[in-house]
Amino acid sequence: MADLNAAAEARLNSGIRNLWYPVAASWMVRDTPHGLTRLGQRIVLWRDREGAVHAIEDRCPHRGARLSMGWNLGSTVACWYHGVEVDGAGCLARVPALGESPLVGRKRNRAYPVIERAGAIFLWFGDDATDLPPLDLPEELNGGAWEAILCTAHWQCNYRYAAENVMDPMHGAYLHAVSHSMAEGDKTARMKARETETGFVFEKTDQSGINFDWTEFGATGAWWQRLSIPYRKSAGPGGSFFIVGMVTPVDAESCRVFFWRCRKVEGWQRDAWKFLYRARLEGLHWDVLEQDRLILEGMLDSARDDEMLYAHDAGLVRLRRFMAAAAKREVGAELAAEPA
Ligand code: FES
Ligand SMILES: [Fe+2]
Repeated sequence: MADLNAAAEARLNSGIRNLWYPVAASWMVRDTPHGLTRLGQRIVLWRDREGAVHAIEDRCPHRGARLSMGWNLGSTVACWYHGVEVDGAGCLARVPALGESPLVGRKRNRAYPVIERAGAIFLWFGDDATDLPPLDLPEELNGGAWEAILCTAHWQCNYRYAAENVMDPMHGAYLHAVSHSMAEGDKTARMKARETETGFVFEKTDQSGINFDWTEFGATGAWWQRLSIPYRKSAGPGGSFFIVGMVTPVDAESCRVFFWRCRKVEGWQRDAWKFLYRARLEGLHWDVLEQDRLILEGMLDSARDDEMLYAHDAGLVRLRRFMAAAAKREVGAELAAEPA
């Protein structure tokens, strides 16, 4: 049991694997191979000639150079060191220095299932790629009447602090008190949680529609969070502004956050909104995100070991319980599957 608890905590720290995670914005992966680290794993991404993204372990099977330092040949990536080519299934495709080689066709590299959606590239990190769950994203990210603008950043803190920060609506009235959209409303509140079909909502009981008053967590193949911030008329068409957030561990000490800024706008209103967003609001939103980043990066990694929580932290406590249970299930199933 002690083993299971320790293994589950270690897994939680570096990221649950049986999930879809956004790893990069679509615009980050263009013509050249793109190397990144997520969940402690080095991965190379590239686009083939049809524009489809491939993702495999970023390690040349020959001597271990990073494939992302090499060349995108469409159906393969070629290593810079001696030119060995590996395809999107992770199989060695060519050894140009030899011509023919019995190594061709051998699979040495892990390949990651890829879905590109809502302006982001999602990878599946689970071990058994044959049994992929669907990736159901919140409706704001599924197009149609919703316009979703993605912004993403690297934060030097464990991913759990970033997720817990979104589960804590009360910080809006303090940390972001001087921001353009969160200056309104009470600085005190009673909070409560309620279950939803895919997770739970944590909300203020005595104020809604004024500030950052509720936040939601959902698990639908990926883990996501959602909140809304009411906007005054001067912020253009489309009513309330929704933010969908996801966070992907880079390693145990850092993460990449993905925030989609969403508004229900169609026709000319959509163009007006996009223009207004780029021209005026995007910079303000980066300022708000910087406030979050500074606070979280300033906390020690061990901060969670010595806290004095109060009622407003019930949302993040609930999230911690949910995540810890998922880690235990995942590690428990792996241990059970190991040969005795
Ligand atoms: S290390 Fe990649 S080809 Fe030799
Ligand atoms: Fe914040």
